[in-house]
Amino acid sequence: MKIIVTGGCGFVGSSLCLFLKKNIKKSQILSIDNLSKSYSKYNQKILLKNKILNKNINLGEFNSLEKIKFKADFIIDCSAEPAVEISKKKIIKVIESNFLSTLNILEKSKEDNSKIIFVSSSRVYPIKKSYEKFKNFKKYKKHFPYSEKGDLSDQKSIYGFTKYASEKLIEEYNLSNNIKYIINRCGLISGPGQYGKVEQGLVSLWMWRHLNKINVTYLGHGGKGEQLRDVLFIEDFCKLVLQQVKSFKLFENKLFCVGGGKMNVINLKELTQICKKITRNKVKILRKSKTSIYDIPYYVTSISKIKKLCGWEPKVDLDKGLKQIYNWMILNREKIKDFF
Ligand SMILES: NC(=O)c1ccc[n+]([C@@H]2O[C@H](COP(=O)([O-])OP(=O)(O)OC[C@H]3O[C@@H](n4cnc5c(N)ncnc54)[C@H](O)[C@@H]3O)[C@@H](O)[C@H]2O)c1
Repeated sequence: MKIIVTGGCGFVGSSLCLFLKKNIKKSQILSIDNLSKSYSKYNQKILLKNKILNKNINLGEFNSLEKIKFKADFIIDCSAEPAVEISKKKIIKVIESNFLSTLNILEKSKEDNSKIIFVSSSRVYPIKKSYEKFKNFKKYKKHFPYSEKGDLSDQKSIYGFTKYASEKLIEEYNLSNNIKYIINRCGLISGPGQYGKVEQGLVSLWMWRHLNKINVTYLGHGGKGEQLRDVLFIEDFCKLVLQQVKSFKLFENKLFCVGGGKMNVINLKELTQICKKITRNKVKILRKSKTSIYDIPYYVTSISKIKKLCGWEPKVDLDKGLKQIYNWMILNREKIKDFF
């Protein structure tokens, strides 16, 4: 089986490359990544050690995949500028990297008859909706998870917009060119291989800061540390994608909400407590009440659709997942420092 993973030198992409290589006999995997992150070159070396080649191509350039002769059964799209805050300022770059890249991938799929697995984002949901859900969560003391049927019709951030636009473009190529696809709309993903950088999300950042006794900041929403997410650990995500590659027909032309679900919901204050327990380090907590217009207080995934279809559900809980991150950071501590 031949697979292209775009963004193969990023966190999700590199984890998928290695996992699929290990678990699919005689697989040939090609990564396409322009090495735009501080850690991408290091991930490229790890891939190479595992006989996975990376082609340094900017997917955001028109027709960027024209010269790639590798004809893949699957293209798994993990390339993007995933930092929501960055998308506020670098609008053109984000549209190129997150949306034009999808167009190029779809054109390549059309040429080679490849199937697409797209890693979308929970940020396709409107910002306002998150405030509503958070209010209801506090009022009724129960969760109101996001499902595939959730309302998408309001402002989301430029990042969210590009992921939403890519979802829609994939559906259009399905209609016009019969490109077969799966869309995994993911919430927060974390795990070993994530270097604790601010733009990579809260979980690895929190663990890295506790490990190195660096202050953390409860940013926005009154500075109370109450904002809340469900966490999906990368091992569970890789297992799902493997299942999708192996039994594509079952998932064909469908969109799924994928996340840690109710089992893995945590707010910042609770995350601080777990990190403190695991690292045995207490760090200073700063508070800034001002909230970025792009920040959301609440996201929890309903995984009912995917679970009902194939039985997949996360197996790695918060305790196990956070210990895995800690152990990996201890092992790779010196290397990780290079990326700051
Ligand atoms: N990490 C999460 O919590 C999360 C949650 C939901 C969805 N996602 C999605 O998963 C995917 C992977 O995210 P990640 O956390 O691994 O991010 P990452 O930044 O670690 O990886 C993205 C990779 O894409 C590459 N890339 C970016 N622009 C490119 C371009 N124009 N041409 C070629 N390569 C380019 C980067 O160099 C990087 O190696 C993204 O599509 C993101 O939107 C991530």
